[in-house]
Amino acid sequence: MRNANKLSIEVWDGWVRVFHWGLVLAVLVSFYTTKTSAVPFLFPIDVHAQAGYVVLGLLVFRWLWGVLGSVYARFSTFLYPPAPTIAYSKTLLKRQPNTYASHNPLGGWMVIIMLLSLSFQAVSGLFLSDDIFFQGPLYGLFGKGVGSQLSTLHQLNSHLLIILIGLHLLGLVVHRLLGEPLVTAMLVGTKRFRQQPIDARNELLNAATLRLRAIGALCIAAGVVLWLWF
Ligand code: HEM
Ligand code: HEM
Repeated sequence: MRNANKLSIEVWDGWVRVFHWGLVLAVLVSFYTTKTSAVPFLFPIDVHAQAGYVVLGLLVFRWLWGVLGSVYARFSTFLYPPAPTIAYSKTLLKRQPNTYASHNPLGGWMVIIMLLSLSFQAVSGLFLSDDIFFQGPLYGLFGKGVGSQLSTLHQLNSHLLIILIGLHLLGLVVHRLLGEPLVTAMLVGTKRFRQQPIDARNELLNAATLRLRAIGALCIAAGVVLWLWF
């Protein structure tokens, strides 16, 4: 943390930023390739599944990083009980929200719901088939009945995801209008504050320890993707 006229705090480490923008790209490809005529792909469903494996790998990394990662990336930093979340929502309605280094209480719950919905989407896909060219790596594991229920849920949850992503983008616009440029922070990693944010932490983990944890989480995530892909 640096003290000048404004405080500048590194809130999103490089891993979170790569996770986020990689996720955006892979989710967009997953949606695009559900169209049978998804130019330039000859077999869009294969690309759909591969993009889904990448989503799953990124999520494995993020679930681990939420426990082991840098302080503002940790779930324990940005998940609040109901009372402070409601209190925060009221200040937001009055257009006077407190500023947070990590996700604010509402944003934190939104992030968890998005991560859960994305995880369900990617995992349920593993059990599906398009009944023509493609069978997921776990297709048939629980029999046809469960497979067809998962197919319906995969479709329904994809609608939920679109709503969540829409709300996510709307939230960013609202914060921009209130003077909080959150997108810049997700690009460059740092946020600037006029005063100490409410969740500011002094705790700094040793960089070598963090790197080691990141490499461990990355190996597990890459292992999952490679196992599914090949
Ligand atoms: C986050 C990742 C994913 C997203 C956003 C996603 C989204 C979708 C969407 C929107 C559909 C079309 C549903 C419909 O209207 O019928 C679909 C279908 C499908 N998805 Fe995914 N999916 C993801 C991951 C996966 C994965 C990992 C696999 C397989 C390994 C997979 C396999 C399939 C199959 C086989 C279908 C066609 C089902 C059918 O024809 O009934 N998906 N997916
Ligand atoms: C497919 C579309 C998207 C998905 C699935 C998505 C998902 C997510 C997730 C899961 C997080 C939590 C990050 C973490 O703690 O690891 C997040 C945060 C964030 N996303 Fe996205 N995102 C999408 C599109 C975008 C776009 C297009 C932008 C910018 C224009 C954006 C900007 C941000 C920002 C600024 C944050 C941090 C919010 C905060 O400070 O609380 N996202 N997003």
